[in-house]
Amino acid sequence: MTGFTVALVLVAAAAGLLRWRRPAWYWLTFGVTLASIRVLVRYATVMDACGLTVAPSRWRLALARATNRPAPESRPPRILLLRPTRTGLLLRLKLRPGQDAFDVAAASDRLRHSFSMYGVTSREVRSGVVEVRMTGYDVLKRVQMPATTVTRPMRVPVALREDGSIHYRDYRAIPHALTLGATESGKSVYQRNLVAGLAAQDVALVGIDCKQGVELFPLARRFSALADNPDTAADLLDALVARMGEVYQLIRAEQRITADIPDAEIAADIWDLPDDIRPTPVVVLVDEVAELALFASKEEEKRRERIVTALVRLAQLGRAAGIYLEICGQRFGSELGKGITMLRAQLTGRTAHRVNDETSANMAFGDISPDAVLAAIQIPADMRGVAVAGDSTGGWHRIRAPHTSLRQAVNVCNGYADRTPDLPELAPFRPSLPGISSAPVPLSKAAPATA
Ligand SMILES: Nc1ncnc2c1ncn2[C@@H]1O[C@H](COP(=O)(O)OP(=O)(O)O)[C@@H](O)[C@H]1O
Ligand SMILES: [Mg+2]
Repeated sequence: MTGFTVALVLVAAAAGLLRWRRPAWYWLTFGVTLASIRVLVRYATVMDACGLTVAPSRWRLALARATNRPAPESRPPRILLLRPTRTGLLLRLKLRPGQDAFDVAAASDRLRHSFSMYGVTSREVRSGVVEVRMTGYDVLKRVQMPATTVTRPMRVPVALREDGSIHYRDYRAIPHALTLGATESGKSVYQRNLVAGLAAQDVALVGIDCKQGVELFPLARRFSALADNPDTAADLLDALVARMGEVYQLIRAEQRITADIPDAEIAADIWDLPDDIRPTPVVVLVDEVAELALFASKEEEKRRERIVTALVRLAQLGRAAGIYLEICGQRFGSELGKGITMLRAQLTGRTAHRVNDETSANMAFGDISPDAVLAAIQIPADMRGVAVAGDSTGGWHRIRAPHTSLRQAVNVCNGYADRTPDLPELAPFRPSLPGISSAPVPLSKAAPATA
């Protein structure tokens, strides 16, 4: 008997230690079972206490009266599914007549406390069915991406959301994006994750990094073109606009619309073209965008006009030609001059890291969602990398990218160096590093990528 007690104490101690030091492991070993039992046992009581039950219907009352039985109780939504996940529980509920998804969303904080979970969010799946996602611990504290994620062309997993799901950057759904944040808030780490994710795909990466190239030049082996000062950037952007024109010519040439071509086969963007002639999509990453928009002399003002015009044209017309913009900066508002708000309006995807004032947050979300502005201001300074990201449905999420060090990103980029496409239009901007266009590094050298 004492042996059993000792074992029990040991297990409890191990669980406590895990919970404290490694919440993710605790969740997978003990937490998930305990939480499932807790939710199932307490379900009816909690729903009743949270005001999520409906009174019995008339015919049930009448039936009870007729058969002389006690009056039936109020009923909570029916559980369609309870599924444990890597970070929490997924509960799918069938609402009773008279309830709506908003009732559940409004009660999510009460549910969180009643079920002793870390976070609870809900969304409507279809009419009458609501999905409640619960997390067992703070998943953003130590971000661990799942080992296997579904990747599709031009869609990379870049961060973890607060509810434990993965945040993807999908270039085909949201072609251009803007990432804002105060200095040291995690913008460059976010961008680095994007580069590491895109490195394995068939895409040309173009970088403009006016911070003397400190962020992007170490990754040069996977980049088809790089610029580290506004003068080169202006030429590079002009070259991209020229490339865009050529791609449109190619699409035009492929269209040749005749009556017998089915509607679905008429090409209107590069993804409608046959694989063998499709131009490589290009992702243009701009770090510290304000450097491109500032000027001190007449000469520089002309250059600025050129840069902003090229960026606006790429943002307006680039999508169909497979040119996508990914712009990072500390602020991005009208104080940067003419054309900036016009450019901003074209950048559909918005991500805001910690910002110092409400105006900066407004630059990201002011025209989209006031709640998101508030959430962006509330990001604590000691949680670097936490951001608020808008999604394509108009909603927003708190996200955090995994902390990828520059060394890890460099290893990934070197591992995929042989995937760097050589675009003739961008050849003058190809970073000149020793050995760059010589023998390609075989993919097997990608091993350090997992380090
Ligand atoms: N997702 C993250 N997780 C953990 N730490 C992060 C994360 N993002 C950034 N940091 C920390 O914050 C520091 C500054 O990040 P950085 O991306 O260079 O900021 P910014 O480019 O906005 O000035 C990094 O060196 C890193 O230590
Ligand atoms: Mg930076």
